[in-house]
Formats: sequence, C-alpha cells, structure tokens
Amino acid sequence: MKRTLISNIGMLATPTGTSARRGEEQGRITVLRDAWVLIEDGVIAGVGTGAADASLVRGAERIDAHGQLVTPGLVDAHTHLIFGGWRQNELGLKLHGASYLEIQNAGGGIQSTTNATRGATEEALAAKAEKALDEMLRFGTTTCEAKSGYGLATEHELKALRVIRDLDQRHPIDLVATFMGAHLVPAEYRQNRSEYVRLVCEEMMPLVREQGIAQFCDVFCEADTFTVEESRRILEAGLKYGLRPKIHADEIEAIGGSTLAGELGAISAEHLIVCPPEGIASLAKGGVIACLLPATSFNLGAAFAPARAMIAAGVPVAMATDFNPGSCPCLNMQFVINLGCLKYRLTPEEVLTAVTLNGAAAIDRADRVGSVEVGKLGDLVIWDAPDLDYICYRVGSNLARSVIKKGRIV
Ligand code: NIG
Ligand code: FE
Repeated sequence: MKRTLISNIGMLATPTGTSARRGEEQGRITVLRDAWVLIEDGVIAGVGTGAADASLVRGAERIDAHGQLVTPGLVDAHTHLIFGGWRQNELGLKLHGASYLEIQNAGGGIQSTTNATRGATEEALAAKAEKALDEMLRFGTTTCEAKSGYGLATEHELKALRVIRDLDQRHPIDLVATFMGAHLVPAEYRQNRSEYVRLVCEEMMPLVREQGIAQFCDVFCEADTFTVEESRRILEAGLKYGLRPKIHADEIEAIGGSTLAGELGAISAEHLIVCPPEGIASLAKGGVIACLLPATSFNLGAAFAPARAMIAAGVPVAMATDFNPGSCPCLNMQFVINLGCLKYRLTPEEVLTAVTLNGAAAIDRADRVGSVEVGKLGDLVIWDAPDLDYICYRVGSNLARSVIKKGRIV
C-alpha cells in the first residue's frame, strides 16, 4: 500500500459533503490549523490536527506543506478543451467594435474553429489538448470537464470524444466528457436547421451512447444558435440516451434557457450572465447548479452573472474557466477565483466551494472529489500562500506550489 502524509499544513480549507452547497451553506467551510492529511493508495484515509499518530506516519512518504494553505484540487467544470487552431485574429475585430454574434454570423467564431477541428487529426487534437491540460494542472486543476462541439458532424464529434477518453486515461487530470453536437448549426445545414437537430438526436446520440464516451449533453441555447424549443428537443433526446442535460443559457440574450434548465432539472446551467429573476427562480426550483464563467465575461467585455442573487435564492454556484479559443482563451482557475471575489462579490469561502465541491457536483463527481475528507481522492493543492484570503487577493501569479493528484505530486 502506498501511503503519503502531508504535514505541517498552516491552514487546511475545504468545503465538506458529497453534494452541492447552496445559500448560506455555500460559505460554510471547514478550516483546520496545524493540520495533516494521510492518503492511502490515492484515497484520503485521515485528516487531523497537531502531531499525526506514529502508527499512521510509519512507512509513509512525507510531504511538508511548510505551514502554507492546502485546499482540495480545483475542479474546472466547464471547458471546450478539444479544438483545432486559435482565434487571435478576432481580437482586432473585437477592438473595432464587432460583437461576439456578429463575428459568429460572419463565419468567424465557432464555425471557423469547426473548420480547423475537422481538418485536424486525432493525434494533433490530443497533443494540443494535452499541452493545455499540463498548464491547467500547474495552476491547480485536478479534475476537468471537456466538451465536444467543434466537430458538428458525426465523425468529428465522435473523434473529439475519443480524444477526451484517451486523455483521461493518460493524463493525471481526470476528465469528464460532455457531448455538445448542438454548439452551432454548421454552415452546410444553415438552410435546414431541423435536419441538423435530427442528426444530433438520431444519429450522433445513439453512437455516443453505444460507445459510452460521454456522460452529459450540452446545448448552446442562444439567439442565432439554438432556440429554446430546439434545445428542449435535444436535451430530452439526450436523456433518452442516458446523457444528463447541461445548457449554455442566458450568455448574451435571455431567451429562456435558464427557465428550460429548471423545467428539465438539468444538472447545471452555464454562463447565466443575463439571467432574469424568473430564470433564477426556475434554477432554484429545479435544483440546477449555476456554473458561472467569469473569465468569459471578462474576455467578452460583458456584464458579470448575478451570483449574489443566485446564492440568495438558494441556487448552488459553481465557477469554471470555459476554456475555448473564442470567448475565453483562459485555462487558469486562479484567475476565476480572483474574479469570483472581485466581480461576483462572493466571499473567499463561497468562492472555494464554487471551484471545488460545487464544480464537482456540476459534473456528478461530488462523491469522489471536491473536498478534503476521508474517502475522497487525494487531490490537493499546496499553495504558496498563508491563507485562503491570500489566493483570492493576489492576481496574475501562479500560487500553486505543489499539485497532488491521487496522493502523488504531479
Ligand atoms: O461557452 N458559448 C458557446 N460556447 C463557448 C464559446 C465558443 C467559441 O466562441 O468558440 C462559450 O463561451
Ligand atoms: Fe462554454
């Protein structure tokens, strides 16, 4: 048995439990001083304070936290990890006033990344995503959701999901796959939208199910992409194939995506930048986790989602990067932490829950990760920081000193 003891922890900060925390509970975390964590065969076997019992310590590899902060490994519950090319050319267009939807409608945006993704081999997509995962790991991410959605054709959507499955097997970060064939109606179906929706539901989904390569189904419910009715049809079809619904809702225009999320009991709704009060009420009623993406608001120069109103309404808030080549070329969860405090006005404790346990719950992994508790995976970050406030307040540095995945420094 491989045993690792992390000792000399100045502050251990963690939410607790195996489900999302909402309302005031989101800000109630456990803080231990002078703590230690014992990991056996990759799983947390003990947590305590003061000197660890000699019998626990015997034979264990020791990791000294040097009196610093330790938290659970970060969970990035929303990324578009698999794509060809980048879109730095859109920066100039944006600076000259073009909006996200204008760039998209002019053939840029998701369609241009789709063209690049279709042209890329599985090996090339994997190598590119692996480089991104290496960087995410260095910033403290130990579990990550990844969506398809730049293939927009059966062959290429399945290709992206296979890349995710293979990377999950060979990279230290655990990956959770989401099928997002409904990211955009691709150019060749623009005149025949319903045929594309049919293709997603009747051709792609059965194959995704048969190959067992995704757990969730996501749709970009937005003006000029998928209507509420199309989104409902797609997510209901997903349910039939065992894919739990997620939905990009209220990112640019509030067309009813958050209300739909509540009605369907989606596991999470994403973005929610312009989520109206009735949308928040629907999320609360449906038990939907709000997966907020503040680095996207930052990159789009958009407003920030009404996170405080969501917490007040009892909606659990998670936060993630939304890493993608267009609206958010950022894979750093530490920047998300900064924005959570400064732009959403969440407390450091609420933010910690958002980027660990609630993120884990948004991808149905809260039984395994998201907190430092006996029985969960030994996924932790030792920070170059004395306390939780410090990582929320410092901006622009990488403060992750050691990232530990299943008990090993990675
Ligand atoms: O979550 N909004 C839809 N999808 C991504 C953006 C994709 C892109 O611009 O390539 C998002 O922001
Ligand atoms: Fe997204």
